[in-house]
Amino acid sequence: MTESSATKLLNGDACHRTLHGKNASKNGYVKNHCLFQQSQKYRRAREKRQNATTNPSLYQKPFVESFEETPLLVAVLTYMGYGILTLFGYLRDFLRHWNIEKCHVAREREQQKDFVPLYQDFENFYTRNLYMRIRDNWNRPICSVPGAKMDVVERVTHNYNWTFEHTGTVVKDVINMGSYNYLGFAENTGACADAAVEVTHAYGAGVGSTRCEMGNLDVHEELELLIARFLGVESSMAFGMGFATNSMNIPALTGKGCLILSDELNHASLVLGARLSGSTIRVFKHNNMQSLEKLLRDAIVHGQPRTHRPWKKILIVVEGIYSMEGSIVRLPEIVALKKRYKAYLYLDEAHSIGALGPQGRGVVNYFGLDPKDVDIMMGTFTKSFGAAGGYIGGRKELIDYLRCHSHSAVYATSMSPPVAQQIITSMKIIMGEDGTSLGVQLSENTNYFRRKLLDMGFIIYGNDDSPVVPLMLYMPAKIGAFGREMLKRNIGTVVVGFPATPIIESRARFCVSAAHTKEMLDTVTPPLKKQQAIHRLVSLEVQKHLGSSQ
Ligand SMILES: Cc1ncc(COP(=O)(O)O)c(C=O)c1O
Repeated sequence: MTESSATKLLNGDACHRTLHGKNASKNGYVKNHCLFQQSQKYRRAREKRQNATTNPSLYQKPFVESFEETPLLVAVLTYMGYGILTLFGYLRDFLRHWNIEKCHVAREREQQKDFVPLYQDFENFYTRNLYMRIRDNWNRPICSVPGAKMDVVERVTHNYNWTFEHTGTVVKDVINMGSYNYLGFAENTGACADAAVEVTHAYGAGVGSTRCEMGNLDVHEELELLIARFLGVESSMAFGMGFATNSMNIPALTGKGCLILSDELNHASLVLGARLSGSTIRVFKHNNMQSLEKLLRDAIVHGQPRTHRPWKKILIVVEGIYSMEGSIVRLPEIVALKKRYKAYLYLDEAHSIGALGPQGRGVVNYFGLDPKDVDIMMGTFTKSFGAAGGYIGGRKELIDYLRCHSHSAVYATSMSPPVAQQIITSMKIIMGEDGTSLGVQLSENTNYFRRKLLDMGFIIYGNDDSPVVPLMLYMPAKIGAFGREMLKRNIGTVVVGFPATPIIESRARFCVSAAHTKEMLDTVTPPLKKQQAIHRLVSLEVQKHLGSSQ
């Protein structure tokens, strides 16, 4: 396995992988780790490892995460698979070059042949020769709400996935295991939809102005007061787009002379925001407190490069749930570190808000922490709330400052009123103002589904409480086969490979929802069972066998 893949997803500087039951060395981190208490009967013994460096007293409940190491044979076979695909890729590029095979991809014109080629990196080779083979698994149009079930538009290709045609047929009632509809609010009926329709009748769909000009409606004010109440913070501001909430607010908070310490698996919007800010960026290993503490200590000891002046600000940027790994941030430890080193903390709760915590108030609620310990609480409404947009919550001074200095506050048109209303109604439901308990249903479904996959012997990643459930496929050929075979059985899944994951860690990613019934979850797993066609076709038993032999 490559160094990058070995280091990318792991929780340790020194001990990247513990092979075949050997103990972690040096920093005590291992890929399969659990904190102070562990008695999950479903977890195999070798996955139970004590994380020597973490401080159990900071946690009020068990913190169980599993990132089982890629079995050696699977890693070798995966590399062989990529090797064979690459050889065929070169062969086909050769045939395309001599016009023996039709080339569908954009190419430089004859007059431009002396220019440096526009496309020459590996990613383009990968797209042309590897991704194109399984492209039918992505960008599939759906034609219903992305609820627990959805309708998918059928497509065919006559040229090996270069182009697609719609057949006019709709595949009905596909069980949706791919949308981030954690609480089931992505619906076109019910209280949220009714309230949104009412607001559309009152205000229309668009505001046509920014908040500072003519675009400030009562629904916006109500929404911001509600968010602040929901999060337990002094004040909040809502933005029309989650991505822009990160990419435009981080530059308003930090700049030249500031240091951003960013988790290596942070979302693109956080990375973009950090880069746009002009701050110095240092990346720590995913959820690795030693790596973070080392960076913090170095930052305090050495200060800025060359001048050695102290950093103007140090901002730690993390997410609540990481959507590719299904891991949960080690927030209690991060809060302890940020306090010790007097840094600021920016927490992106895109996937955790609504989905975690006894009251669904996110990762702070999950760990029973004080919201005041997080300086900048960020989140999006696109997942648990079935809406659109993002928010920042925190102290009043912070929000007042952002209202005047953030580009997304000053220059962007305000949130569409029905969207704001959808958020208000769904948030009130999460707050229990209608007496329901969606959060409980989600965590029951999550535990049930994760346990079923573990019992079947699959290698799944992430935290036991995370509704994002990555099931490891590893090999490139399995990515396409898995997605297609599941869809044939009316189960819609997201499959993910390079560059969204390390090259040998391709996976299927299930997103569990409170809207899934037990019957639906029970329909998803049987096709994966041993002796079932999909299991044989996708050779899932390789993982089971090798995974348990470690
Ligand atoms: C962690 C994280 N932050 C921000 C965003 C961007 O949010 P949105 O899709 O609502 O624009 C996403 C999107 O998936 C995300 O996963």
